[in-house]
Amino acid sequence: MSDFPIIQGQKADRTPVHPSIDAAQISALVDQFYAKVRAHERLGLLFANGMEKDWPEHLERMKAFWRSVLLKTGEYKGKPVPAHMKLEEITTDDFNQWLQMFEETASSLMVPEAVPLVLKTAERIASSLWLARNPDPFSKVPVWSELRQAQAL
Ligand code: HEM
Repeated sequence: MSDFPIIQGQKADRTPVHPSIDAAQISALVDQFYAKVRAHERLGLLFANGMEKDWPEHLERMKAFWRSVLLKTGEYKGKPVPAHMKLEEITTDDFNQWLQMFEETASSLMVPEAVPLVLKTAERIASSLWLARNPDPFSKVPVWSELRQAQAL
C-alpha cells in the first residue's frame, strides 16, 4: 500500500488528537490563553509590538489554527514561520513561558488524558519556530518539558 494517501484519493485523516477535544473547547483555550499572554509583562509586550492584526482577528485566526492542528480540519492556511521571523528577539525563555501558560490553560479546560497530547503538539510547533529563528546548524532544540520542570523546582 502506498504511503501517500492523497495519491490514492483517500480523504485526509480527520481524527482529533484526542476524542474529548471540540471546537468550543478550542475557542475557550484560545480566549483564555491570550488573555494571560496579554497580561504577562514580557510576552504582552512582544505581542503588543509584533501584532499586525487586531486582537479579534488574531484570536479567530488562532482558533482556526488550533482546530486545524487538534481536530485536523485543514482550515488554517497561514504561515507561522515567517510570521515569527519578523518579530523582535524571542528568547528560549519566552518560548518556555509561552508553553508554560499554554499548559496551565489546557490543564484547566481539557481532560487530563488530552493535555499531554495537546502539549506535545504545541512543543513540536514551538520547536520549528525556535529552529527557524536559530539557524546555527549546531543549535540544539531545547527539551521543553525539562525546561518547565527545571523552572518549577
Ligand atoms: C514567545 C513565543 C511567541 C510569541 C512572542 C509569538 C508572537 C506572535 C505574534 C506577535 C504573532 C503575529 C500576530 C499578527 O500578525 O498580528 C503571532 C502569530 C502566530 N503565532 Fe505566535 N508567538 C509565539 C509562539 C507561538 C507558538 C509556540 C505557536 C504555536 C504552537 C504560535 C502560533 C502562531 C500562529 C499560528 C500565528 C499566526 C500566523 C499567521 O497565520 O499569520 N506562536 N505570534
